[in-house]
Amino acid sequence: MEIRSISSTQTFEIRHPILRAGQPLESCKFIGDEDEETLHFGAYEEQRLIGVLSCYVNNGKHFNQGKNYQIRGVAVVEKLQQKGIGKALMLYAEQLLKTKVCNHIWLNARVNASSFYTKLGYLEIGTVFEVPIIGTHQCFYKKFNQ
Ligand SMILES: CC(C)(COP(=O)(O)OP(=O)(O)OC[C@H]1O[C@@H](n2cnc3c(N)ncnc32)[C@H](O)[C@@H]1OP(=O)(O)O)[C@@H](O)C(=O)NCCC(=O)NCCS
Repeated sequence: MEIRSISSTQTFEIRHPILRAGQPLESCKFIGDEDEETLHFGAYEEQRLIGVLSCYVNNGKHFNQGKNYQIRGVAVVEKLQQKGIGKALMLYAEQLLKTKVCNHIWLNARVNASSFYTKLGYLEIGTVFEVPIIGTHQCFYKKFNQ
């Protein structure tokens, strides 16, 4: 498996079936996808895209100092979940963000994926909240360079 930078539209191949199943392709477009500092990564197995993850410069509502990155759109093709691909994408993104100014990484996780993030050392912040159509979420963060 190899991880490399991809374009925002390449992520749709995985975002759509895994994160926005049954919704229009348009729903795969996230605010900031095309921003200069946004990063999109794809995990490949023999030239086949099998997982994606994106990072956006965004303070969100919990961080108001320094420069903070939000991780979004973490998804792995269904048949290859639970084989370490998601974790490899998260660790790859963290390594890359360590080379930049980044005070915190944060993300809004679907509550049913919370342990995936806590196992990677992410801590809860704030209370659970509903995202229409998608479900209950919890914000998690990790302190970075400061
Ligand atoms: C959540 C997701 C990205 C994780 O990627 P993955 O490749 O399946 O996970 P990994 O194999 O790297 O898992 C790493 C660890 O997290 C655990 N884990 C993975 N997915 C989990 C989940 N949904 N709930 C709880 N724990 C999970 C694994 O069991 C593993 O634990 P271990 O280290 O004790 O063995 C992937 O399963 C996925 O795409 N799920 C559907 C979409 C989704 O929910 N995305 C997240 C939106 S916030």
